Amino acid sequence: FPRAKASSLTTMENDQEIVGSLKHQLAKLFEESLRLTVPEESDVDPAIAPCQNPRFGDYQCNNAMGLWSKVKGKGTQFRGPQPIGQAIMNNLPASEMIDSCSIAGPGFVNVVLSRHWIAKSIRKMLVDGIETWAPKLPVKRAVVDFSSPNIAKEMHVGHLRSTIIGDTLARMLEYSNVEVLRRNHVGDWGTQFGMLIEYLFEKFPSGEVANDQAIGDLEAFYKASKQRFDSDPDFKERAQRAVVSLQAGDEKYRKAWSQICEISRKGYEKVYERLGVHLEEKGESFYNPYIPGALELLSQQGLIEESEGARVIFIEGKNIPLIVVKRDGGYNYASTDLAALWYRLNEEKAEWIIYVTDVGQREHFEMFFTAAKRAGWLPAEDDKYPKASHVGFGLVLGEDGKRFRTRSTETVKLVDLLDEAKSKCKAALIERGKDKEWTEEELDKTAEAVGYGAVKYADLKNNRTTNYTFSFDQMLNDKGNTAVYLLYAHARICSIIRRSRKDIEELKKTGTLDLVHPDERTLGLHLLQFAEIVEEACTNLFPNLLCEYLYNLSEDFTRFYTNCQVVGSAEETSRLLLCEATAVVMRKCFHLLGITPVYKI
Ligand code: ARG
Repeated sequence: FPRAKASSLTTMENDQEIVGSLKHQLAKLFEESLRLTVPEESDVDPAIAPCQNPRFGDYQCNNAMGLWSKVKGKGTQFRGPQPIGQAIMNNLPASEMIDSCSIAGPGFVNVVLSRHWIAKSIRKMLVDGIETWAPKLPVKRAVVDFSSPNIAKEMHVGHLRSTIIGDTLARMLEYSNVEVLRRNHVGDWGTQFGMLIEYLFEKFPSGEVANDQAIGDLEAFYKASKQRFDSDPDFKERAQRAVVSLQAGDEKYRKAWSQICEISRKGYEKVYERLGVHLEEKGESFYNPYIPGALELLSQQGLIEESEGARVIFIEGKNIPLIVVKRDGGYNYASTDLAALWYRLNEEKAEWIIYVTDVGQREHFEMFFTAAKRAGWLPAEDDKYPKASHVGFGLVLGEDGKRFRTRSTETVKLVDLLDEAKSKCKAALIERGKDKEWTEEELDKTAEAVGYGAVKYADLKNNRTTNYTFSFDQMLNDKGNTAVYLLYAHARICSIIRRSRKDIEELKKTGTLDLVHPDERTLGLHLLQFAEIVEEACTNLFPNLLCEYLYNLSEDFTRFYTNCQVVGSAEETSRLLLCEATAVVMRKCFHLLGITPVYKI
């Protein structure tokens, strides 16, 4: 997937205060040098990337080749990319960040960072807090539209992906000081409500207040009403009239509608509570009043045409147009989304609108984004704000390779899944004798943190666009790239610190940190890369990058801990600080992934 340029992300009006990620700081130095080296190409952005091979250095500047192709034959003093690289290196301003530089290949400038500077940066984070490492993004307010189940249909494992991925993206943006409007765009409007309401009236003719017990399983209720709709023409007609009454705002119908929504809401709120996910519901019905106005704007610009009795927007390169008013005059998913986009841009003043749904909806989003661009609501260029992004994800598969289901029901209920994860974790803890050491409450809390964390992490660690296989055996394994392994690794670090019997808060104030051993330096550098990884993960909307980072971090820690004695060594203070910094960064990763850390195992 395309990686965003660091420099375009960090430009803000007020730059003085910003330190930014390690990569950004390096980019600043190279920007200066590039300006001095080839003043005639002053708008070139520094291309800074970690070195592929750590033998060459930590980071590399790859601008020489590109610059050579721009300046050659234009009377330049340079005789090839190599001398340009050399000049870039020589023109680099002095900085405490850099230990040494070298030239490799066709003008790559390799940089070895100063280990004292790495240590100093980590010390500073320990004192000032991990919030000071937050990336800076060029937006102030974003909408994350996620989870968004449909009323009267049970949330299933597909909605789990949207909820988990959306929550993580929201958390990363929030950490980056973006104000996030977490929107639950529930499917609470549309023709299916006609049959639901009519069926409700049929079951409760006297109009008594229906509650969840009375209706029972809403999914079954939905199926039963659908069956009535399909089999009885009389019912069907009444259902169709019910839609009209509902849309006209008839009180009796509105009340029935809101009862049905409320029962559904109670169901999915239970799931959000368990997952620790916070959302604000603004369902499809909310945007209904804005549809005529939004369509009017598009119409004024000549975007809407008549086709086969419907009103549509033709999109270049697409075989079928985007229908915005159906033949029967009703609105649909697309008209609601256009109105919602208008609202989010103009009323809520969001600069980035992010939609998290399965990849199957890509076409829908592509089409209505294109319509919005043609209307001038969004800029034509994808790297400009305001921006709309579709975050598509693949299917969840069962171990048989088919769409994830249980034997008894069509889809897997989310709550059952979470229950099972928790109970499996609790059993594992008891097997390890923890019930003799811990209170029942501690046992439950840990089982929840590990169980729910495992479900989330197993989802997030995959590139979201691919399908993944749901397997408790895999996700609850305490070895390999799982939340269980990572949570335990963190708890182990905490126990190292505890066992030293040192006051870590005191050490943070007075202790010094040095990264003498190569494994200490590697770990330290990796810690310092946290900010740029978060920046990349949320700019490109790929949470798996953060998971990958976290897993590698814990591997680096293991290598350090295997090769460097901590407690009782001459370097104890420094190494305890390094342990603490690792634990702090790991905890921040957990937090961004929506996982609750555990402190003892
Ligand atoms: N309710 C839809 C579904 O379950 C997802 C809504 C996504 N958000 C949006 N603005 N279209 O497929």
